[in-house]
Amino acid sequence: MENSKIIKHTHDAIVIGAGGSGLRATMGISQSEHSVACISKVFPTRSHTVAAQGGISGALGNMGEDDWRWHMYDTVKGSDWLGDQDSIEYMCKNAVESIIELEHFGVPFSRTEEGKIYQRPFGGMTTEYGKGIAQRTCAAADRTGHAILHTLYTQALKNNVDFYIEYFVIDLVFEEGKCIGVLAWCLDDGTIHLFQSHIVILATGGHGRTYQSSTSAHTCTGDGNGMILRAGLPLMDMEFIQFHPTGIYGAGCLITEGARGEGGYLTNSEGERFMPKYAPNAKDLASRDVVSRAIQMEVNAGRGVGEDKDHALLHLEHLDASVIHEKLPGITETAKIFAGVDATTDPIPVIPTVHYNMGGTPTNHYTEVIAAGDGKTVEGLMAVGEGACVSVHGANRLGSNSLLDLIVFGKSAAETACSLLDKKTKNHIDIKSSTISDIMDNFESTRNSSGDIGTAELRDKMQKTMQRYAPVYRDDETLKKGIDIMHGLFKDFKHVSVSDKSLIWNTDLVETLELNNLLYQALATLYSAENREESRGSHARDDYPDRDDKEWLKHTMVSIDSDGGKKFDYKPVKLDTLTDEVETVKLKARTY
Ligand code: FUM
Repeated sequence: MENSKIIKHTHDAIVIGAGGSGLRATMGISQSEHSVACISKVFPTRSHTVAAQGGISGALGNMGEDDWRWHMYDTVKGSDWLGDQDSIEYMCKNAVESIIELEHFGVPFSRTEEGKIYQRPFGGMTTEYGKGIAQRTCAAADRTGHAILHTLYTQALKNNVDFYIEYFVIDLVFEEGKCIGVLAWCLDDGTIHLFQSHIVILATGGHGRTYQSSTSAHTCTGDGNGMILRAGLPLMDMEFIQFHPTGIYGAGCLITEGARGEGGYLTNSEGERFMPKYAPNAKDLASRDVVSRAIQMEVNAGRGVGEDKDHALLHLEHLDASVIHEKLPGITETAKIFAGVDATTDPIPVIPTVHYNMGGTPTNHYTEVIAAGDGKTVEGLMAVGEGACVSVHGANRLGSNSLLDLIVFGKSAAETACSLLDKKTKNHIDIKSSTISDIMDNFESTRNSSGDIGTAELRDKMQKTMQRYAPVYRDDETLKKGIDIMHGLFKDFKHVSVSDKSLIWNTDLVETLELNNLLYQALATLYSAENREESRGSHARDDYPDRDDKEWLKHTMVSIDSDGGKKFDYKPVKLDTLTDEVETVKLKARTY
Protein backbone atom coordinates (compact mmCIF):
# COMPACT_ATOMS: atom_id res chain seq x y z
CA MET A 1 0.00 0.00 0.00
CA GLU A 2 1.29 3.49 -0.86
CA ASN A 3 1.96 5.69 2.16
CA SER A 4 -0.20 8.42 0.56
CA LYS A 5 -3.30 6.24 1.14
CA ILE A 6 -2.69 6.14 4.89
CA ILE A 7 -5.23 8.21 6.85
CA LYS A 8 -3.57 10.53 9.38
CA HIS A 9 -4.80 11.63 12.81
CA THR A 10 -3.10 13.74 15.45
CA HIS A 11 -3.81 13.77 19.17
CA ASP A 12 -1.85 14.87 22.22
CA ALA A 13 -2.09 11.37 23.67
CA ILE A 14 -3.35 8.03 22.48
CA VAL A 15 -4.25 5.05 24.62
CA ILE A 16 -4.10 1.58 23.09
CA GLY A 17 -6.60 -0.71 24.77
CA ALA A 18 -9.97 -0.08 26.41
CA GLY A 19 -9.89 -2.37 29.46
CA GLY A 20 -9.90 -1.05 33.04
CA SER A 21 -6.47 0.64 32.92
CA GLY A 22 -6.87 2.01 29.38
CA LEU A 23 -10.29 3.49 30.10
CA ARG A 24 -9.18 4.94 33.46
CA ALA A 25 -6.17 6.59 31.75
CA THR A 26 -8.28 7.81 28.81
CA MET A 27 -10.97 9.20 31.07
CA GLY A 28 -8.42 11.04 33.21
CA ILE A 29 -6.75 12.74 30.23
CA SER A 30 -10.13 13.59 28.71
CA GLN A 31 -10.84 15.74 31.78
CA SER A 32 -7.85 17.99 30.89
CA GLU A 33 -7.41 20.39 27.96
CA HIS A 34 -5.28 17.78 26.14
CA SER A 35 -6.78 15.74 23.31
CA VAL A 36 -6.88 11.97 23.73
CA ALA A 37 -8.00 9.06 21.58
CA CYS A 38 -8.52 5.46 22.64
CA ILE A 39 -7.88 2.69 20.10
CA SER A 40 -9.17 -0.82 20.78
CA LYS A 41 -9.23 -4.06 18.81
CA VAL A 42 -12.46 -5.07 20.56
CA PHE A 43 -15.53 -3.11 21.60
CA PRO A 44 -14.51 -1.52 24.97
CA THR A 45 -16.97 -3.46 27.12
CA ARG A 46 -15.68 -6.72 25.63
CA SER A 47 -12.17 -6.06 27.01
CA HIS A 48 -10.96 -8.79 29.36
CA THR A 49 -11.45 -6.69 32.53
CA VAL A 50 -15.11 -7.66 32.07
CA ALA A 51 -14.19 -11.18 33.22
CA ALA A 52 -12.69 -10.15 36.58
CA GLN A 53 -14.88 -11.69 39.25
CA GLY A 54 -14.00 -11.55 42.94
CA GLY A 55 -13.19 -7.89 43.48
CA ILE A 56 -10.81 -4.99 44.00
CA SER A 57 -8.67 -4.71 47.13
CA GLY A 58 -8.42 -1.62 49.34
CA ALA A 59 -8.12 -1.06 53.08
CA LEU A 60 -11.50 0.66 53.44
CA GLY A 61 -12.11 -1.11 56.75
CA ASN A 62 -15.84 -1.47 56.12
CA MET A 63 -16.01 -4.97 57.61
CA GLY A 64 -13.36 -4.82 60.33
CA GLU A 65 -10.30 -2.75 61.15
CA ASP A 66 -7.85 -2.28 58.27
CA ASP A 67 -4.80 -0.22 57.32
CA TRP A 68 -3.14 0.36 53.93
CA ARG A 69 0.23 -0.51 55.57
CA TRP A 70 -1.07 -4.03 56.32
CA HIS A 71 -2.17 -4.25 52.68
CA MET A 72 1.31 -3.18 51.61
CA TYR A 73 2.92 -5.78 53.89
CA ASP A 74 0.72 -8.55 52.41
CA THR A 75 1.48 -7.46 48.84
CA VAL A 76 5.26 -7.42 49.39
CA LYS A 77 5.11 -10.81 51.11
CA GLY A 78 2.78 -12.17 48.39
CA SER A 79 5.28 -10.97 45.76
CA ASP A 80 7.98 -13.04 47.52
CA TRP A 81 9.89 -9.77 47.88
CA LEU A 82 10.33 -9.25 44.14
CA GLY A 83 7.77 -6.39 44.08
CA ASP A 84 9.15 -2.84 44.08
CA GLN A 85 8.20 -1.36 47.44
CA ASP A 86 7.85 2.23 46.18
CA SER A 87 5.22 1.13 43.63
CA ILE A 88 3.47 -1.12 46.16
CA GLU A 89 3.30 1.72 48.68
CA TYR A 90 1.85 3.99 45.98
CA MET A 91 -0.81 1.42 45.03
CA CYS A 92 -1.93 0.46 48.54
CA LYS A 93 -1.96 4.04 49.83
CA ASN A 94 -4.03 5.26 46.86
CA ALA A 95 -6.43 2.29 46.92
CA VAL A 96 -9.08 3.74 49.21
CA GLU A 97 -9.41 7.04 47.34
CA SER A 98 -9.45 5.29 43.95
CA ILE A 99 -12.21 2.89 45.01
CA ILE A 100 -14.37 5.66 46.51
CA GLU A 101 -13.90 7.51 43.23
CA LEU A 102 -15.18 4.41 41.37
CA GLU A 103 -18.20 4.35 43.70
CA HIS A 104 -18.88 7.99 42.81
CA PHE A 105 -18.49 7.24 39.08
CA GLY A 106 -21.37 4.78 39.58
CA VAL A 107 -19.91 1.28 40.11
CA PRO A 108 -22.77 -0.79 41.62
CA PHE A 109 -20.82 -2.43 44.48
CA SER A 110 -22.56 -4.98 46.72
CA ARG A 111 -23.50 -3.43 50.08
CA THR A 112 -23.37 -4.23 53.79
CA GLU A 113 -26.46 -3.88 55.98
CA GLU A 114 -25.39 -0.29 56.74
CA GLY A 115 -25.03 0.51 53.03
CA LYS A 116 -21.23 0.47 52.91
CA ILE A 117 -19.25 -1.22 50.12
CA TYR A 118 -19.21 -5.00 50.81
CA GLN A 119 -15.71 -6.50 51.32
CA ARG A 120 -14.81 -10.22 51.33
CA PRO A 121 -11.68 -12.12 52.44
CA PHE A 122 -9.20 -13.04 49.68
CA GLY A 123 -5.99 -15.09 49.62
CA GLY A 124 -2.98 -13.59 51.40
CA MET A 125 -4.89 -10.52 52.68
CA THR A 126 -4.33 -10.18 56.44
CA THR A 127 -4.68 -7.76 59.33
CA GLU A 128 -1.88 -6.61 61.66
CA TYR A 129 0.95 -7.92 59.51
CA GLY A 130 -0.24 -11.49 59.19
CA LYS A 131 -2.09 -11.97 62.49
CA GLY A 132 -5.72 -12.10 61.27
CA ILE A 133 -7.74 -12.54 58.06
CA ALA A 134 -8.67 -9.21 56.40
CA GLN A 135 -11.96 -8.51 54.63
CA ARG A 136 -10.41 -6.14 52.09
CA THR A 137 -11.76 -7.13 48.66
CA CYS A 138 -14.57 -4.82 47.49
CA ALA A 139 -17.05 -6.75 45.38
CA ALA A 140 -19.96 -6.29 43.04
CA ALA A 141 -21.23 -9.89 43.62
CA ASP A 142 -18.81 -11.97 41.50
CA ARG A 143 -18.98 -9.62 38.49
CA THR A 144 -16.77 -6.78 39.78
CA GLY A 145 -14.76 -6.32 36.56
CA HIS A 146 -17.96 -6.15 34.54
CA ALA A 147 -19.35 -3.43 36.83
CA ILE A 148 -16.13 -1.38 36.73
CA LEU A 149 -15.60 -1.68 32.97
CA HIS A 150 -19.12 -0.60 32.05
CA THR A 151 -18.96 2.34 34.48
CA LEU A 152 -15.62 3.56 33.12
CA TYR A 153 -16.84 3.28 29.54
CA THR A 154 -19.90 5.41 30.27
CA GLN A 155 -17.66 7.96 32.05
CA ALA A 156 -15.39 8.12 28.97
CA LEU A 157 -18.44 8.61 26.71
CA LYS A 158 -19.65 11.39 29.02
CA ASN A 159 -16.28 13.13 28.47
CA ASN A 160 -16.59 12.84 24.66
CA VAL A 161 -13.50 10.67 24.20
CA ASP A 162 -12.59 9.87 20.55
CA PHE A 163 -12.83 6.08 20.32
CA TYR A 164 -11.40 4.10 17.40
CA ILE A 165 -13.10 0.77 17.94
CA GLU A 166 -12.10 -2.46 16.20
CA TYR A 167 -8.79 -1.02 15.02
CA PHE A 168 -5.81 -3.39 15.26
CA VAL A 169 -2.53 -1.64 16.11
CA ILE A 170 0.20 -3.01 13.85
CA ASP A 171 3.24 -1.43 15.51
CA LEU A 172 4.60 1.51 17.45
CA VAL A 173 6.19 4.33 15.44
CA PHE A 174 9.54 5.68 16.67
CA GLU A 175 11.59 8.60 15.37
CA GLU A 176 15.02 9.36 16.90
CA GLY A 177 14.33 7.02 19.82
CA LYS A 178 11.03 8.75 20.72
CA CYS A 179 7.68 7.03 20.45
CA ILE A 180 5.54 9.30 18.30
CA GLY A 181 2.48 7.23 17.49
CA VAL A 182 1.16 3.98 16.08
CA LEU A 183 0.12 2.52 12.77
CA ALA A 184 -3.27 0.77 12.89
CA TRP A 185 -5.57 -1.21 10.63
CA CYS A 186 -9.32 -0.52 10.68
CA LEU A 187 -10.87 -3.99 10.66
CA ASP A 188 -14.22 -2.79 9.40
CA ASP A 189 -13.25 -1.05 6.14
CA GLY A 190 -9.63 -2.18 5.65
CA THR A 191 -8.09 1.32 5.81
CA ILE A 192 -4.67 1.95 7.39
CA HIS A 193 -4.28 4.81 9.87
CA LEU A 194 -1.32 6.70 11.28
CA PHE A 195 -2.07 8.08 14.75
CA GLN A 196 0.54 10.64 15.66
CA SER A 197 0.81 11.78 19.26
CA HIS A 198 3.20 13.13 21.88
CA ILE A 199 2.39 10.27 24.21
CA VAL A 200 1.39 6.66 23.58
CA ILE A 201 -0.01 4.68 26.52
CA LEU A 202 -0.02 0.90 26.06
CA ALA A 203 -2.91 -0.76 27.91
CA THR A 204 -3.11 -3.92 25.84
CA GLY A 205 -3.39 -6.55 28.59
CA GLY A 206 -1.70 -9.84 29.32
CA HIS A 207 -0.60 -12.74 27.14
CA GLY A 208 -2.48 -15.63 28.80
CA ARG A 209 -3.09 -17.14 25.38
CA THR A 210 0.52 -18.27 25.04
CA TYR A 211 -0.88 -21.26 27.01
CA GLN A 212 -3.55 -23.76 26.01
CA SER A 213 -5.53 -23.75 29.25
CA SER A 214 -6.09 -20.23 30.50
CA THR A 215 -8.78 -18.19 32.18
CA SER A 216 -7.91 -15.40 29.71
CA ALA A 217 -10.07 -14.55 26.72
CA HIS A 218 -8.81 -15.57 23.26
CA THR A 219 -8.09 -11.87 22.68
CA CYS A 220 -5.45 -11.81 25.47
CA THR A 221 -2.46 -11.89 23.17
CA GLY A 222 -0.34 -9.15 24.80
CA ASP A 223 -0.09 -7.15 21.59
CA GLY A 224 1.67 -4.19 23.21
CA ASN A 225 4.37 -6.47 24.61
CA GLY A 226 4.90 -7.94 21.15
CA MET A 227 5.40 -4.39 19.82
CA ILE A 228 7.85 -3.62 22.65
CA LEU A 229 10.00 -6.66 21.81
CA ARG A 230 9.90 -5.95 18.06
CA ALA A 231 11.10 -2.42 18.85
CA GLY A 232 14.18 -3.94 20.54
CA LEU A 233 13.02 -2.94 24.04
CA PRO A 234 13.01 -5.41 26.97
CA LEU A 235 10.18 -7.05 28.91
CA MET A 236 10.60 -7.65 32.63
CA ASP A 237 10.01 -10.70 34.90
CA MET A 238 8.39 -12.79 32.15
CA GLU A 239 9.14 -16.05 34.00
CA PHE A 240 6.41 -15.31 36.54
CA ILE A 241 3.15 -16.82 35.30
CA GLN A 242 0.28 -17.11 37.76
CA PHE A 243 -1.74 -20.32 37.86
CA HIS A 244 -5.16 -19.73 39.47
CA PRO A 245 -5.93 -22.75 41.68
CA THR A 246 -9.57 -22.98 40.65
CA GLY A 247 -10.03 -23.08 36.90
CA ILE A 248 -12.88 -25.47 35.95
CA TYR A 249 -11.40 -28.88 35.12
CA GLY A 250 -11.39 -29.39 31.35
CA ALA A 251 -12.74 -25.96 30.41
CA GLY A 252 -10.31 -23.61 32.16
CA CYS A 253 -13.00 -21.03 33.08
CA LEU A 254 -12.42 -19.09 36.28
CA ILE A 255 -14.13 -19.95 39.57
CA THR A 256 -13.38 -16.91 41.69
CA GLU A 257 -11.19 -17.03 44.77
CA GLY A 258 -14.17 -15.20 46.27
CA ALA A 259 -15.76 -18.68 46.47
CA ARG A 260 -13.13 -19.64 49.06
CA GLY A 261 -13.49 -16.14 50.55
CA GLU A 262 -17.16 -16.94 51.23
CA GLY A 263 -16.17 -20.22 52.96
CA GLY A 264 -15.45 -22.69 50.13
CA TYR A 265 -12.70 -25.32 50.57
CA LEU A 266 -10.74 -27.88 48.54
CA THR A 267 -10.55 -31.67 48.94
CA ASN A 268 -8.58 -34.53 47.33
CA SER A 269 -9.72 -38.01 46.21
CA GLU A 270 -9.69 -39.21 49.84
CA GLY A 271 -12.14 -36.49 50.79
CA GLU A 272 -9.35 -34.84 52.80
CA ARG A 273 -9.36 -31.08 53.19
CA PHE A 274 -5.66 -30.78 52.31
CA MET A 275 -4.84 -27.05 52.49
CA PRO A 276 -4.24 -26.98 56.30
CA LYS A 277 -1.29 -29.34 55.64
CA TYR A 278 0.37 -26.80 53.32
CA ALA A 279 -0.75 -23.53 54.93
CA PRO A 280 -1.74 -24.12 58.57
CA ASN A 281 -2.84 -20.51 59.15
CA ALA A 282 -4.29 -19.29 55.87
CA LYS A 283 -5.50 -22.75 54.74
CA ASP A 284 -7.66 -22.40 51.57
CA LEU A 285 -6.99 -18.65 51.59
CA ALA A 286 -3.22 -18.93 51.19
CA SER A 287 -1.84 -17.05 48.19
CA ARG A 288 -2.45 -18.54 44.76
CA ASP A 289 1.02 -19.90 44.10
CA VAL A 290 0.83 -21.86 47.39
CA VAL A 291 -2.67 -23.29 46.68
CA SER A 292 -1.83 -24.17 43.05
CA ARG A 293 1.31 -26.00 44.12
CA ALA A 294 -0.62 -27.82 46.87
CA ILE A 295 -3.17 -29.15 44.33
CA GLN A 296 -0.32 -30.23 42.03
CA MET A 297 1.42 -32.02 44.93
CA GLU A 298 -1.79 -33.87 45.83
CA VAL A 299 -2.13 -34.97 42.20
CA ASN A 300 1.56 -36.00 42.07
CA ALA A 301 1.06 -38.05 45.24
CA GLY A 302 -1.78 -39.99 43.57
CA ARG A 303 -4.55 -38.23 45.49
CA GLY A 304 -6.01 -36.41 42.48
CA VAL A 305 -9.75 -36.74 41.80
CA GLY A 306 -11.44 -38.42 38.83
CA GLU A 307 -10.63 -41.21 36.41
CA ASP A 308 -7.25 -39.68 35.60
CA LYS A 309 -6.63 -38.62 39.24
CA ASP A 310 -5.60 -35.21 37.98
CA HIS A 311 -7.70 -32.55 39.71
CA ALA A 312 -9.29 -31.43 43.01
CA LEU A 313 -12.80 -30.57 44.23
CA LEU A 314 -14.04 -27.18 45.40
CA HIS A 315 -16.90 -27.38 47.92
CA LEU A 316 -19.58 -24.73 48.31
CA GLU A 317 -22.53 -27.02 48.97
CA HIS A 318 -22.19 -26.57 52.77
CA LEU A 319 -22.91 -22.83 52.38
CA ASP A 320 -26.40 -21.43 52.64
CA ALA A 321 -27.85 -21.45 49.09
CA SER A 322 -28.94 -17.83 49.55
CA VAL A 323 -25.27 -16.79 50.07
CA ILE A 324 -24.30 -18.59 46.86
CA HIS A 325 -27.13 -16.98 44.90
CA GLU A 326 -26.48 -13.49 46.26
CA LYS A 327 -22.66 -13.38 46.40
CA LEU A 328 -21.62 -15.89 43.74
CA PRO A 329 -24.29 -15.91 40.99
CA GLY A 330 -21.79 -15.78 38.10
CA ILE A 331 -19.71 -18.80 39.07
CA THR A 332 -22.85 -20.78 39.93
CA GLU A 333 -23.91 -20.31 36.32
CA THR A 334 -20.39 -21.05 34.99
CA ALA A 335 -20.19 -24.27 37.06
CA LYS A 336 -23.55 -25.40 35.68
CA ILE A 337 -22.64 -24.65 32.05
CA PHE A 338 -19.01 -25.80 31.96
CA ALA A 339 -18.89 -28.56 34.61
CA GLY A 340 -22.55 -29.62 34.64
CA VAL A 341 -22.57 -29.09 38.42
CA ASP A 342 -25.12 -27.45 40.70
CA ALA A 343 -22.76 -25.70 43.14
CA THR A 344 -25.44 -25.59 45.86
CA THR A 345 -25.50 -29.41 46.02
CA ASP A 346 -22.24 -30.74 44.52
CA PRO A 347 -18.51 -29.89 44.50
CA ILE A 348 -16.92 -28.26 41.43
CA PRO A 349 -13.98 -30.07 39.74
CA VAL A 350 -11.02 -27.65 39.56
CA ILE A 351 -7.43 -27.52 38.38
CA PRO A 352 -4.68 -24.83 38.44
CA THR A 353 -5.07 -22.81 35.24
CA VAL A 354 -2.97 -19.99 33.76
CA HIS A 355 -4.56 -16.75 34.94
CA TYR A 356 -2.20 -13.79 35.05
CA ASN A 357 1.16 -12.49 33.86
CA MET A 358 3.18 -10.76 36.55
CA GLY A 359 5.77 -9.73 33.93
CA GLY A 360 5.44 -7.32 31.05
CA THR A 361 6.58 -3.89 29.85
CA PRO A 362 8.71 -2.40 32.65
CA THR A 363 7.59 0.95 34.03
CA ASN A 364 8.23 3.20 37.02
CA HIS A 365 5.32 4.16 39.30
CA TYR A 366 4.63 7.15 37.03
CA THR A 367 3.93 4.47 34.36
CA GLU A 368 6.74 5.64 32.05
CA VAL A 369 8.29 2.75 30.10
CA ILE A 370 11.81 1.76 31.19
CA ALA A 371 14.36 0.88 28.51
CA ALA A 372 17.08 -0.82 30.56
CA GLY A 373 18.21 -1.99 33.99
CA ASP A 374 19.53 1.49 34.85
CA GLY A 375 15.93 2.79 34.87
CA LYS A 376 16.30 5.07 31.79
CA THR A 377 12.87 5.83 30.31
CA VAL A 378 11.65 5.82 26.69
CA GLU A 379 10.44 9.26 25.65
CA GLY A 380 6.75 9.35 24.68
CA LEU A 381 5.93 5.81 25.81
CA MET A 382 3.94 4.70 28.85
CA ALA A 383 2.28 1.42 29.86
CA VAL A 384 -0.40 0.30 32.33
CA GLY A 385 -2.40 -2.76 33.31
CA GLU A 386 -1.59 -6.45 33.06
CA GLY A 387 0.67 -5.90 30.04
CA ALA A 388 2.80 -3.53 32.10
CA CYS A 389 5.17 -4.45 34.91
CA VAL A 390 5.19 -1.59 37.41
CA SER A 391 6.26 -4.38 39.70
CA VAL A 392 3.55 -4.29 42.32
CA HIS A 393 3.03 -8.05 42.01
CA GLY A 394 6.65 -9.20 41.86
CA ALA A 395 6.84 -12.99 41.66
CA ASN A 396 3.19 -13.62 42.59
CA ARG A 397 0.08 -11.43 42.56
CA LEU A 398 -2.48 -11.46 45.37
CA GLY A 399 -6.05 -11.91 44.14
CA SER A 400 -7.96 -8.62 43.77
CA ASN A 401 -4.75 -6.57 43.49
CA SER A 402 -5.13 -6.68 39.70
CA LEU A 403 -8.24 -4.51 39.41
CA LEU A 404 -6.56 -2.18 41.90
CA ASP A 405 -3.39 -2.00 39.78
CA LEU A 406 -5.53 -1.09 36.73
CA ILE A 407 -7.38 1.69 38.49
CA VAL A 408 -4.56 3.25 40.54
CA PHE A 409 -1.99 3.20 37.74
CA GLY A 410 -4.56 4.08 35.05
CA LYS A 411 -5.19 7.23 37.05
CA SER A 412 -1.45 7.78 37.59
CA ALA A 413 -0.90 7.43 33.81
CA ALA A 414 -3.43 10.18 33.14
CA GLU A 415 -1.72 12.46 35.68
CA THR A 416 1.77 11.76 34.28
CA ALA A 417 0.61 12.23 30.68
CA CYS A 418 -1.04 15.56 31.50
CA SER A 419 1.99 16.87 33.35
CA LEU A 420 4.34 15.80 30.51
CA LEU A 421 1.99 17.35 27.93
CA ASP A 422 1.84 20.61 29.89
CA LYS A 423 5.59 20.97 29.24
CA LYS A 424 5.59 19.94 25.56
CA THR A 425 5.16 22.02 22.43
CA LYS A 426 1.97 21.16 20.55
CA ASN A 427 3.81 20.67 17.22
CA HIS A 428 4.19 17.14 15.90
CA ILE A 429 7.53 16.23 14.31
CA ASP A 430 7.84 15.03 10.69
CA ILE A 431 7.84 11.27 10.27
CA LYS A 432 10.22 9.82 7.65
CA SER A 433 8.35 7.90 4.99
CA SER A 434 10.84 5.02 5.39
CA THR A 435 9.72 4.63 9.04
CA ILE A 436 6.17 3.93 7.86
CA SER A 437 7.25 1.84 4.87
CA ASP A 438 9.27 -0.51 7.09
CA ILE A 439 6.22 -1.23 9.28
CA MET A 440 3.94 -1.60 6.25
CA ASP A 441 6.41 -3.96 4.52
CA ASN A 442 6.28 -6.31 7.52
CA PHE A 443 2.49 -6.11 7.62
CA GLU A 444 2.19 -6.85 3.88
CA SER A 445 4.67 -9.68 4.08
CA THR A 446 2.54 -11.34 6.80
CA ARG A 447 -0.68 -10.69 4.85
CA ASN A 448 0.78 -12.26 1.70
CA SER A 449 2.47 -15.11 3.50
CA SER A 450 1.62 -18.41 1.83
CA GLY A 451 3.81 -20.98 3.53
CA ASP A 452 2.99 -24.51 4.58
CA ILE A 453 1.76 -24.09 8.15
CA GLY A 454 -1.63 -22.65 9.12
CA THR A 455 -1.95 -20.03 11.87
CA ALA A 456 -4.16 -22.27 14.04
CA GLU A 457 -1.75 -25.19 13.72
CA LEU A 458 1.27 -23.08 14.72
CA ARG A 459 -0.66 -21.48 17.61
CA ASP A 460 -1.74 -24.90 18.84
CA LYS A 461 1.87 -26.11 18.86
CA MET A 462 2.99 -22.99 20.75
CA GLN A 463 0.23 -23.36 23.38
CA LYS A 464 0.90 -27.07 23.91
CA THR A 465 4.64 -26.36 24.25
CA MET A 466 4.04 -23.74 26.95
CA GLN A 467 1.60 -26.00 28.77
CA ARG A 468 4.06 -28.88 28.80
CA TYR A 469 7.42 -27.16 29.18
CA ALA A 470 6.63 -24.12 31.37
CA PRO A 471 4.14 -25.59 33.89
CA VAL A 472 3.65 -24.98 37.65
CA TYR A 473 6.85 -26.96 38.46
CA ARG A 474 9.79 -26.46 36.10
CA ASP A 475 13.37 -27.70 35.81
CA ASP A 476 16.38 -27.16 33.61
CA GLU A 477 15.74 -30.10 31.32
CA THR A 478 12.09 -29.29 30.53
CA LEU A 479 12.76 -25.58 30.10
CA LYS A 480 15.70 -26.18 27.74
CA LYS A 481 13.57 -28.55 25.68
CA GLY A 482 10.79 -25.93 25.65
CA ILE A 483 13.21 -23.26 24.41
CA ASP A 484 14.45 -25.52 21.68
CA ILE A 485 10.93 -26.27 20.41
CA MET A 486 9.71 -22.69 20.79
CA HIS A 487 12.71 -21.29 18.94
CA GLY A 488 11.80 -23.57 16.02
CA LEU A 489 8.16 -22.42 16.14
CA PHE A 490 9.28 -18.78 16.24
CA LYS A 491 11.21 -19.38 13.02
CA ASP A 492 8.28 -21.28 11.49
CA PHE A 493 6.30 -18.05 11.59
CA LYS A 494 8.09 -17.10 8.35
CA HIS A 495 6.34 -20.09 6.74
CA VAL A 496 2.85 -19.35 8.03
CA SER A 497 0.02 -19.43 5.55
CA VAL A 498 -2.60 -16.67 5.53
CA SER A 499 -5.41 -17.84 3.28
CA ASP A 500 -7.54 -14.66 3.32
CA LYS A 501 -5.61 -11.81 1.65
CA SER A 502 -8.31 -9.15 1.99
CA LEU A 503 -8.26 -6.23 4.41
CA ILE A 504 -11.96 -6.29 5.34
CA TRP A 505 -12.78 -8.20 8.55
CA ASN A 506 -9.88 -10.54 7.92
CA THR A 507 -9.84 -12.55 11.17
CA ASP A 508 -7.26 -14.90 9.65
CA LEU A 509 -4.80 -12.00 9.41
CA VAL A 510 -5.74 -10.63 12.88
CA GLU A 511 -5.02 -14.03 14.43
CA THR A 512 -1.73 -14.28 12.55
CA LEU A 513 -0.55 -10.85 13.76
CA GLU A 514 -1.63 -11.83 17.30
CA LEU A 515 0.29 -15.09 16.95
CA ASN A 516 3.44 -13.17 16.08
CA ASN A 517 3.02 -11.17 19.30
CA LEU A 518 2.41 -14.37 21.31
CA LEU A 519 5.45 -16.17 19.90
CA TYR A 520 7.76 -13.33 21.00
CA GLN A 521 6.31 -13.46 24.53
CA ALA A 522 6.34 -17.27 24.76
CA LEU A 523 10.03 -17.27 23.91
CA ALA A 524 10.70 -14.44 26.39
CA THR A 525 8.92 -16.48 29.13
CA LEU A 526 10.87 -19.67 28.48
CA TYR A 527 14.26 -17.93 28.25
CA SER A 528 13.63 -16.03 31.50
CA ALA A 529 12.36 -19.13 33.32
CA GLU A 530 15.38 -21.19 32.32
CA ASN A 531 17.72 -18.36 33.33
CA ARG A 532 16.35 -17.85 36.88
CA GLU A 533 17.98 -20.58 38.96
CA GLU A 534 15.88 -20.30 42.13
CA SER A 535 12.26 -20.76 43.25
CA ARG A 536 10.34 -17.59 44.05
CA GLY A 537 6.58 -16.92 44.04
CA SER A 538 4.98 -18.59 41.04
CA HIS A 539 8.34 -19.69 39.60
CA ALA A 540 8.83 -23.13 41.18
CA ARG A 541 11.99 -24.96 40.08
CA ASP A 542 12.36 -28.61 41.12
CA ASP A 543 16.10 -28.32 40.63
CA TYR A 544 16.45 -25.05 42.62
CA PRO A 545 13.79 -25.40 45.33
CA ASP A 546 14.92 -22.43 47.47
CA ARG A 547 14.66 -18.68 47.09
CA ASP A 548 18.15 -17.25 46.53
CA ASP A 549 18.21 -13.59 47.59
CA LYS A 550 21.98 -13.37 47.19
CA GLU A 551 21.90 -14.06 43.44
CA TRP A 552 18.32 -13.43 42.37
CA LEU A 553 16.83 -10.50 44.26
CA LYS A 554 16.67 -8.70 40.92
CA HIS A 555 14.32 -8.24 37.99
CA THR A 556 15.02 -10.08 34.73
CA MET A 557 14.91 -7.90 31.63
CA VAL A 558 14.91 -9.82 28.37
CA SER A 559 14.96 -8.65 24.75
CA ILE A 560 14.39 -10.87 21.73
CA ASP A 561 15.90 -10.21 18.30
CA SER A 562 14.18 -10.93 15.00
CA ASP A 563 15.86 -14.37 14.82
CA GLY A 564 14.56 -15.33 18.24
CA GLY A 565 17.89 -14.74 20.01
CA LYS A 566 17.89 -13.33 23.57
CA LYS A 567 19.73 -10.68 25.57
CA PHE A 568 19.45 -10.30 29.38
CA ASP A 569 19.82 -7.27 31.56
CA TYR A 570 18.86 -6.90 35.26
CA LYS A 571 17.22 -4.22 37.35
CA PRO A 572 17.58 -4.04 41.14
CA VAL A 573 14.44 -4.60 43.22
CA LYS A 574 13.41 -1.39 44.98
CA LEU A 575 13.43 -2.24 48.67
CA ASP A 576 13.06 1.41 49.74
CA THR A 577 9.66 2.97 50.27
CA LEU A 578 8.45 6.15 48.58
CA THR A 579 7.78 8.09 51.79
CA ASP A 580 8.52 7.75 55.50
CA GLU A 581 4.84 6.98 56.23
CA VAL A 582 5.68 3.29 56.16
CA GLU A 583 8.69 1.11 56.81
CA THR A 584 10.36 -1.20 54.32
CA VAL A 585 9.01 -4.75 54.59
CA LYS A 586 12.16 -6.60 55.60
CA LEU A 587 13.23 -9.71 53.70
CA LYS A 588 12.27 -12.99 55.33
CA ALA A 589 11.08 -16.46 54.41
CA ARG A 590 7.38 -16.75 53.53
CA THR A 591 5.23 -18.71 55.99
CA TYR A 592 1.48 -19.36 55.81
O1 FUM B 1 -10.48 -15.21 41.73
C1 FUM B 1 -10.77 -14.12 41.25
O2 FUM B 1 -11.87 -13.58 41.42
C2 FUM B 1 -9.75 -13.40 40.51
C3 FUM B 1 -9.39 -12.23 40.94
C4 FUM B 1 -8.09 -11.71 40.53
O3 FUM B 1 -7.41 -12.35 39.74
O4 FUM B 1 -7.71 -10.65 41.03
